[in-house]
Amino acid sequence: MAEREHWKNRSIFIMAAVGSAIGLGNMWRFPYIAAQNGGGAFLIPYMTALLTAGIPLMIIEYGLGIRTQGSAHIALGKIRKPLRFIGWMAILCALFINIYYCIVLGWTWNFLLASPDIAVWGADLAASKAHFFTDILHISEGPWQFGTIYPNLLWGLVTTWVVIWAIIRSGLSGIGKVLLFTVPLPVILVLILLVRGLTLEGSATGLNHYLTPDWGRLTDYHVWLAAYGQIFFSLSVGFGTMIAYASFMPEDTELPNSAAITSFSNCCFSFLAGLAVFSVLGYFAVATNVPMTEVSQAGPGLAFIVYPAALAKLPVYVTFFGALFLITLLLLGIDSAFSLLETVSAALSDKFGITRSVSTTITAVFSFLAGLPLATGAGIYWLDIMDHFIMSYAITTVAIVECLAVGWILGAKNFAAEVNRTAEIKIGPIFSFIIRFLTPAILGYSVIRTFVDEMQ
Ligand code: PHE
Repeated sequence: MAEREHWKNRSIFIMAAVGSAIGLGNMWRFPYIAAQNGGGAFLIPYMTALLTAGIPLMIIEYGLGIRTQGSAHIALGKIRKPLRFIGWMAILCALFINIYYCIVLGWTWNFLLASPDIAVWGADLAASKAHFFTDILHISEGPWQFGTIYPNLLWGLVTTWVVIWAIIRSGLSGIGKVLLFTVPLPVILVLILLVRGLTLEGSATGLNHYLTPDWGRLTDYHVWLAAYGQIFFSLSVGFGTMIAYASFMPEDTELPNSAAITSFSNCCFSFLAGLAVFSVLGYFAVATNVPMTEVSQAGPGLAFIVYPAALAKLPVYVTFFGALFLITLLLLGIDSAFSLLETVSAALSDKFGITRSVSTTITAVFSFLAGLPLATGAGIYWLDIMDHFIMSYAITTVAIVECLAVGWILGAKNFAAEVNRTAEIKIGPIFSFIIRFLTPAILGYSVIRTFVDEMQ
């Protein structure tokens, strides 16, 4: 078998991990999850989840990838053979998430093509909603019908897959070059949106809604579950992605600090994206006299219904900002999407000894075809169902197993000693306590509780 490719240096590796972490999850998922789960108060479970699960799991995944120089099934299988199935489960989740992720990117392409007349289709909430459901999703059917695949959606999907396939196929050096654009550029664009948002009249109303804590919500365990789910999704942990990315680094790579840099940049970006989104929503609420509670109710439609309608109300440069927002989403999403493709394709290469070019092509073509039912009017329902099962059960299970396997079988002490050889920040008893007891307990409770609730 050919020698394993490696990232050029640690900076490129961290950039790739940050690119994977920062994605649609930050700009599209985080704001509505935060708004639905206590606004400012959500930041408490969110930060708790970051510290007790996000960063420790990222250290674990980096560590497993680096020490085994293999994908998730190899990394876990080397601890105990049967655990390789859990590795495959993570990889399967990456495959599913990528299928739905690319559908959302496909919608975004469609929006972009429609953006010149954002002032028309986004004229008010009703018009924007109609545009999303009728022109983009073509919803006319219930969840169990697949109906027709709409040509526009098909082209959006084809474009997305071709782009990410071409990037991943070009190898780690090609990916490294793409990252030089796809990581910094969306950050700059979000800062532009943020400055625009903050200078609008009414932005304070939106920010108050986003940041004013609803403390009462903290006793609701759903809020805590949402925070853990969001952290996993946002940091790309539990999907085998960080294991795959780390397996392309030499064994003497520094880990804990790299994990901390990746995690904090991701969470700071989410926070900023939330400010950018809510300041504009506040302006919209004040300008149209719609209460903020109603404005932020849209759930997944926040970025695609309410936000465009808000942008369409800007005093000047409506088209410019509409396009800027969509390009930001595309740039944010593309490096997350190709990290997901890489997760699956690297696993296939590791398993069957096939070349990168063959494994990426197989994965891309298969995922594209498997995604077609989601590119119909019924797609959004399926997307919701998939998101729920993957996030509430599968990823949580992977995370619990990773913690227990490293904490108890490999031994938290041994793992820490190995990691600390090259660490800039040393890990010790706290890390050990978290992965052996705290995180498995919280996550175990969450899986059981969700299941019991759903059975009722
Ligand atoms: N972290 C990405 C986001 O926030 C999504 C993702 C999940 C990417 C899992 C890779 C693996 O959008």
